[in-house]
Amino acid sequence: MSNSDAVNGRRFAGNNVAITGGTSGIGLALVDAFLAEGASVLTCARSPDSLAAIQQDRPGLHTVVADVTQPEGRSAFLNAIHTHFGDLDIFVSNAGLLVEHDFARHEVSDNELASEFSLNLVAPVQLTASVLAQFERIKAITLVSSGYALVTPTRSPTYGAAKAGLHGFAEGLRRQLSERQIHVLEVLPPLVDTPATAHRSAAKISPESVAAETLSSLHARRPMALVGQTKWLPLLLRVMPARIADIVSKT
Ligand SMILES: NC(=O)c1ccc[n+]([C@@H]2O[C@H](COP(=O)([O-])OP(=O)(O)OC[C@H]3O[C@@H](n4cnc5c(N)ncnc54)[C@H](OP(=O)(O)O)[C@@H]3O)[C@@H](O)[C@H]2O)c1
Repeated sequence: MSNSDAVNGRRFAGNNVAITGGTSGIGLALVDAFLAEGASVLTCARSPDSLAAIQQDRPGLHTVVADVTQPEGRSAFLNAIHTHFGDLDIFVSNAGLLVEHDFARHEVSDNELASEFSLNLVAPVQLTASVLAQFERIKAITLVSSGYALVTPTRSPTYGAAKAGLHGFAEGLRRQLSERQIHVLEVLPPLVDTPATAHRSAAKISPESVAAETLSSLHARRPMALVGQTKWLPLLLRVMPARIADIVSKT
């Protein structure tokens, strides 16, 4: 990036960026934020119609139909990066979903658990491993986790477990990759106004504010992007652990 690019707000000019789950919510806001800052962007999702719809208004955007929980989906995503970019600068693992379970009242099936952990934890780790092995230019791994990585919500113990797992992975990976100077960024949003949270009436922040904080944190090489109500969460959990965990777990 040249100095004039930074001045003109094009901090990611010349960067190839691949984002999972970019047709909606936080992923789509990240697609737009990177495009606005001069990056070349590729994204994937399962729905071809959603991918075609977002591509209509974004002619430079590359897309590929891929379910990241399936080996063939991950291959399709990685092959598309090779085809369109040749090499990759920034990988963003964003696709994920909170599924509510009440273990006290209902049995949760093996299949439900496997697909949920695959999407929220295993696939991001698998794709990170592949990206690191296949792309020489890679300089940043961005993992969208959640404020719930730090406090598990009562309504979804599995989501808290998966995102806490991603949090632990980010921490260890950051140490391992420091010698190669590869930046590992974990993004921990609070409740965000996306289709996934349409049924929730609590206060939400915009996906655009999450994307803006993510790009700033990448640019500043911060370890975590903390935004909205999660900004003070690590500190508050140190000062008043039981009280804060009680409040956050009920959200
Ligand atoms: N919304 C929140 O309040 C909130 C808060 C904290 C963290 N987060 C995290 O932020 C991320 C994005 O959440 P969001 O609310 O923006 O989600 P969203 O609006 O539901 O969008 C999810 C995106 O991921 C894609 N996707 C879902 N499953 C996929 C799969 N198996 N393979 C490939 N793509 C898949 C979806 O497209 P298709 O359905 O077509 O595949 C869509 O593009 C998630 O990791 C979530 O856990 C969200």
